[in-house]
Amino acid sequence: MQGTNTKTKWGGVAQLFHWGMFLLIIGQYTLAYTMLSLPNSDEKFSLFAWHEQMGVTLFLLVFIRLWWREHSNLPQNIDTAPEWTQFLSKLNIWALYFLLFAFPLSGLLMTILGGHSVNYFNLFTIPALMQGPNEIAKILLTLHISFSYALYGFVGLHILGGLFHHFYLKDKVLTGMLPHN
Ligand code: HEM
Repeated sequence: MQGTNTKTKWGGVAQLFHWGMFLLIIGQYTLAYTMLSLPNSDEKFSLFAWHEQMGVTLFLLVFIRLWWREHSNLPQNIDTAPEWTQFLSKLNIWALYFLLFAFPLSGLLMTILGGHSVNYFNLFTIPALMQGPNEIAKILLTLHISFSYALYGFVGLHILGGLFHHFYLKDKVLTGMLPHN
């Protein structure tokens, strides 16, 4: 498989970002729901630390992903979908990028403004900026939870769009994001 994009297909690097971040995000949801379901214990706090570190990783990855996207030629499939669905699909993609940026940022800010520092795999520490708990951290928690529901919606639409292309329009939009095609 070629690393860079071609005119009809996403390259290996774009696919790695797409599927790698998808898996990491599933991991983040699993960690979050598990850690929140546990009683206070070392295990719970260790899962919190994992969730925070993986979240910071996702936050850093989105910048590299956007940089790569900006510096690659995007595949130019001839899109036979109605124009209004093409417009909605672009809007949906940018909503997803917005969430990939704002969702981890809300988690990071609620943590450090809520009085907790974040140690990133012993490489560096992001210090707590306020004494918690406080109103700002509470608002950021509400945002973090709202983003978690919003992401379900936008990812759901994204998957429906892919299936529409594959089974109804029968074009190469969905397979263009799959390896070995
Ligand atoms: C894309 C990255 C992230 C995803 C997908 C994600 C996902 C989630 C989800 C689904 C929840 C459960 C929300 C609920 O109560 O229903 C949650 C909670 C939480 N997240 Fe994240 N998160 C991300 C990034 C971060 C980051 C970067 C941090 C901090 C550095 C963080 C800190 C937390 C904390 C502390 C909670 C528990 C909040 C509470 O006490 O109820 N998250 N996250």
